[in-house]
Amino acid sequence: MSACIRAADKVLAKHSMRDRGIPTPDFYAFNETAFRELGAAEALPAIEERLQFPIVVKPASQGSALGIKFARTAADVPGALVAAFSYDRKVLLERHVLGRDLAVSVLEDQGSPRPLPIVEALPQSDEDFYDFESRYEIGRTKFVCPAALSDAVADRAQELALNVYDLMGCSGFARIDLMLESETDELYVLETNPIPGLTETSLLPQAADAAGIGFDQLIDQILSTALTRA
Ligand SMILES: Nc1ncnc2c1ncn2[C@@H]1O[C@H](COP(=O)(O)OP(=O)(O)O)[C@@H](O)[C@H]1O
Ligand SMILES: [Mg+2]
Repeated sequence: MSACIRAADKVLAKHSMRDRGIPTPDFYAFNETAFRELGAAEALPAIEERLQFPIVVKPASQGSALGIKFARTAADVPGALVAAFSYDRKVLLERHVLGRDLAVSVLEDQGSPRPLPIVEALPQSDEDFYDFESRYEIGRTKFVCPAALSDAVADRAQELALNVYDLMGCSGFARIDLMLESETDELYVLETNPIPGLTETSLLPQAADAAGIGFDQLIDQILSTALTRA
């Protein structure tokens, strides 16, 4: 499934988004060999030149926040890179967007992709604010759907999600993760999940539920879309 290949590499996905004019946080990518050859002393100034701190350092191809670290200054970068390189040989360094964490799921209905109500992830304590991994532990994050957003922002987020869905060549369903920057009210796409979690408590099923599509109906709809295509 080509959408998986395109979306699984966050660096490639961000290049495609940038080419299409879809907002995604500024970034810089490194592979392990280049980093080893350059060494931290050479690499750090290059990073500082390209990105404004704080930044987020993440493996190019992981999920569930594994290996994602927050780097307040350049001094935090070597440790964050080592953590990320333990998951992938390619690492993405990205401007940290301070704001709200949103997810827009898209579900195809009779051949037309439609955005579902937006889910917001709310960390339950400030101490976890930058600890992306612990946020995924049960109870550390509360999910609200539909997120409390103005109609204008919600519409923009859903339109962006549909554009990204199309750009990534998703089929049937997907979930697009975004940040809403507090200071500017701008939306930035972080990533596309072409096969998001589909347990009853996962975000796409929560969003479908908020749209009046129960879990059984959701699974039926996903299967019938897949069968129509086959
Ligand atoms: N550039 C960023 N700015 C702010 N928060 C980020 C950034 N990148 C990731 N995060 C946080 O980490 C979470 C996981 O990042 P994401 O890129 O979606 O990777 P994963 O594949 O692990 O879900 C996001 O939902 C967000 O809370
Ligand atoms: Mg994500």
